[in-house]
Amino acid sequence: MNYPAGRFSFYRGVNTNMKDSTSCSDGDNRQSVVGENLQLPLVNGGKKNYVNLDNAATTPPLQAVNEKVSEFLKYYSSVGRGTGFKSRVSTTAVDEARDILADFVGSDRGYHTVIFTKHATEGINKVSKRIPFSEDDVIISTWLEHHANILPWRRLEKDSGVKVIHAVTNPEDGTLDVDDLYEKIDRYRDNLKLMTITGGSNVTGYLPPLKEISRAVHRVGAYFMVDAAQLAPHKPIDMGSPGSPDRIDFLAFSGHKMYAPYGVGVLIGPEHVFEDGEPEQQGGGAVDLVSQDFTLWRPPPAKEETGTPNAVGIVAIASAADNLTAVDMGNVEDAEEKLTTYTLERLTEIDGLTLFGPGGPSAEDRLGIFTFNLKGMSHHLVSAILSYDYGIATRSGCFCAHPYLLDMMRVPSDRINEVKKQVYSGVKANIAGAVRASLGLYNTREDVDKLVQALHEIGADPDKFSARYRKDERTGEYFPDGDLPDYRKYFSVRE
Ligand SMILES: Cc1ncc(COP(=O)(O)O)c(C=O)c1O
Repeated sequence: MNYPAGRFSFYRGVNTNMKDSTSCSDGDNRQSVVGENLQLPLVNGGKKNYVNLDNAATTPPLQAVNEKVSEFLKYYSSVGRGTGFKSRVSTTAVDEARDILADFVGSDRGYHTVIFTKHATEGINKVSKRIPFSEDDVIISTWLEHHANILPWRRLEKDSGVKVIHAVTNPEDGTLDVDDLYEKIDRYRDNLKLMTITGGSNVTGYLPPLKEISRAVHRVGAYFMVDAAQLAPHKPIDMGSPGSPDRIDFLAFSGHKMYAPYGVGVLIGPEHVFEDGEPEQQGGGAVDLVSQDFTLWRPPPAKEETGTPNAVGIVAIASAADNLTAVDMGNVEDAEEKLTTYTLERLTEIDGLTLFGPGGPSAEDRLGIFTFNLKGMSHHLVSAILSYDYGIATRSGCFCAHPYLLDMMRVPSDRINEVKKQVYSGVKANIAGAVRASLGLYNTREDVDKLVQALHEIGADPDKFSARYRKDERTGEYFPDGDLPDYRKYFSVRE
């Protein structure tokens, strides 16, 4: 299957195999994901086609993933434990999934092990528990990170005495201060054990120069880890061979951000790291022999996957990786870069809009993630109006990256300390924040146009909208006056 660069299509019609598709659209891949053509109610009583611009939080499933999972369910059974036919099918599927994911990110099957986790967060936590750190070790990270790549290291620092250092960012455009980073790598060269960094910011879409950083880290003999939660669905990844100077040693990502729900993630790392020591969680599936007084652990990855594996999630994420590989991640990247450039251009038309992160019309150094504020308006209010009045899904808040966003928003430390006191006294943190719109591979120019039009209208007459919304003083969120839809009418677990 050969798609011209920048063009791809997942559409394969009903009940045909996605990989046999010959259709090649100019970007309308809406049919390729589940539930994106829904008509949903607005506050004015009308209905609109839902526009999902909240892909950085969670993506809808690929239709093909949905179908693959349904096909699998009839064979679904215990993995690695049963002799029944279904159990064999399930075990074979999980083994195959490991190979697909290893190939998806260019890992080395002779050197790396592919561990299934619940999500990227669990993968990063696992690395923090499984590299044998000692008191003299230094870990370098950055202030670009999602909390998932801050808090496990903070805990490790507290528990084990390792030193955790953060390279700073430039508050003007949210980029990494690479000179600061290289100075720190050099300063701690004798004790640096691990450098861990996001592959792409979930706040600004900024892409740090991973290859360059990897080379600097490997020159001083440390491990290089990438949190690829945002990178994996949007850019090709090549972890590289074990000897390569710009390799990635550890990589973590999540299924639910790459069109594969069902609660699974992947951690890939050097097998030898997981061969030594005891696994993070202990129980069935991870052992070869347990006597009354000793335990023999199985080799990784089994050792790290204690308990019954999430076979459905594993099939889902492998199917997503397989389909993304079939259309070629280079094509996904090209198409998304074009839409990102278009979005950046269009957002500059809006009066009073402040965009965080690298600006300008070039999309090469950022993902399609746009975090912004409208002058004089609460981020929660703008996001609520987009949802309830326009049917456009965005997210508002700090996006689990408080240090990064608060720094860009120049929130002074006095204010942060004041809010800390409020939180201690039981008030929910409502410190500052922004609105985030984020693209997936199925979004179109039309979606961007709808966002831009809505922002124009909101910015032109904010009072018209705010008069119809009430604020929840405890959380700072906004809701339209009157009754909210009865969401159970749309979906209820009960029959
Ligand atoms: C950059 C980044 N890292 C890590 C995570 C955590 O992902 P998960 O909640 O799937 O573990 C996220 C989620 O938003 C993220 O954006």
